[in-house]
Amino acid sequence: MIGGTIRRFDSCESTNDEAAKWAKQIHDRAPHGGVIVADSQRAGRGRLGRQWHSPPGSNLYFSVVLRLALPPDKVPPITLCAGLAVCEVVNTRGAVASIKWPNDIYVGKNKLAGVLTEMSTQSQGTVSEGQSSPVESTVIVGIGVNVNGSAFPPELAATSLALECGETIDRAILLGDILSSMHQWVERYCAHGVSALQRAFEGHSMLSGQLVRAKIGGQLRSGKVVSLSDDGALRLRDSAGIEHKIIAGEIECLGEECDE
Ligand code: BTN
Repeated sequence: MIGGTIRRFDSCESTNDEAAKWAKQIHDRAPHGGVIVADSQRAGRGRLGRQWHSPPGSNLYFSVVLRLALPPDKVPPITLCAGLAVCEVVNTRGAVASIKWPNDIYVGKNKLAGVLTEMSTQSQGTVSEGQSSPVESTVIVGIGVNVNGSAFPPELAATSLALECGETIDRAILLGDILSSMHQWVERYCAHGVSALQRAFEGHSMLSGQLVRAKIGGQLRSGKVVSLSDDGALRLRDSAGIEHKIIAGEIECLGEECDE
């Protein structure tokens, strides 16, 4: 159960680091679904080496340890599971959040939340005396949500749930709601693969049908976003009708509705 065990810190360097340490402990090792939550982070980080603004008393910074019966190449869509959970919960509070594939959550043109998924360890399936042990990937999913913050460095172009909804949000309740939604998305993905996420993703994706540009295999390509592929990559169709897959990296929106 995601959120079955929660460890709380007033402050830490990064909840992803605390979760990775906990996941590797020999005694009292993090269970599947164990959560580290901190009131502030001294070195909160985002994708591509960016910092994550993590002041005390206002937002949510947490990391979930997942022990999944999946090989590493099936792990990336877990980021989408977390993003869908955040969107789903935020949308029940009256704000309209959307996912900028793969890990950014926006309300309008401002960033509300982000997901940083990191592999902790992976024990490969081994074969001993004719018996094979299953593969298990240990994954740390870090989520930062701007909840009650009211001032952000302007270069972040960020917003908070409180600013969007016009009221102070109870962070403990919000955390519980996100964890239970994430539990459901992870279960669905592990049972049925990316097809279990497709519909919800289309409904929440800010890139659907948009013209975007991204680096693919070292080359800049632009095209219209078609949908997700079976491995969670983003499918683009260029002006010649050729499809390309974006597996990772930065996406620049060129479409009119997507000019953040
Ligand atoms: C991004 O948008 O690039 C991802 C941001 C992820 C931030 C969260 S806050 C909790 C966890 N601990 C970290 O150091 N990062 C993630």
